[in-house]
Amino acid sequence: MRYAVLSDIHGNLEALSAVLADAAEHVDDVLCLGDVVGYGADPGPCVDLVGARARAVVAGNHEHAVVGRLDLSWFNRYARAAAEWTRERLDGDCASYLGALPLTAVVGDATLVHASPRQPQEWDYLVTEEDGLAAFAAFDTRLCFVGHSHVPAAWSLGSSGPDYARGEVSVTLDAGRRYIVNVGSVGQPRDRDPRAAYAVWDVDAKRVTVRRVAYDVATARAKIEAAGLPRFLADRLAAGA
Ligand SMILES: [Fe+2]
Repeated sequence: MRYAVLSDIHGNLEALSAVLADAAEHVDDVLCLGDVVGYGADPGPCVDLVGARARAVVAGNHEHAVVGRLDLSWFNRYARAAAEWTRERLDGDCASYLGALPLTAVVGDATLVHASPRQPQEWDYLVTEEDGLAAFAAFDTRLCFVGHSHVPAAWSLGSSGPDYARGEVSVTLDAGRRYIVNVGSVGQPRDRDPRAAYAVWDVDAKRVTVRRVAYDVATARAKIEAAGLPRFLADRLAAGA
């Protein structure tokens, strides 16, 4: 069994379509870690695609923001403008679907959560080595997939000590070790690589690999500008930052 693990799509239909096309050649099923909406110009089509393709989806902070479960003062001005724009454009069915998403899910031996398995509703970022290592006590499965920071990374813990890697991540799952993998962002990468990121979890081969997929950034940027969303949100797609 092979899963594509997607996070932080952020209404970027061009990136999501490219990732799903790439994933079709490498996986059997799709899992999603939230932030399907927010920032990009196509929230509705992204929710429809994820809802149709994914076996499990958990909520991100942007889902909670657009359905009114997260105070927008928590957001910076760009995220707030995007959340308000998105909220006005989602139909009732879409909003109810997003509002009903769970904060965590378990698939096989993996926990899915948007931000951190420790108090998922606090939306803490796992960035440093210490952030990740401190989160292992908060889940019971062997693996935990996270997103939220938009930067791929992997933490592991076992008898031979802790391990941590940022950036391009390919992890072989050794017996007796536990792992947290940040799969990066489909629709708004922030590691200075503008290509979409997602992870392939090959259960039988015991491997998790972050893949990068080039997509039509120019169209995604143009749609954001045409929608009247902040120009910064268009420009950062080209920079991958
Ligand atoms: Fe996000």
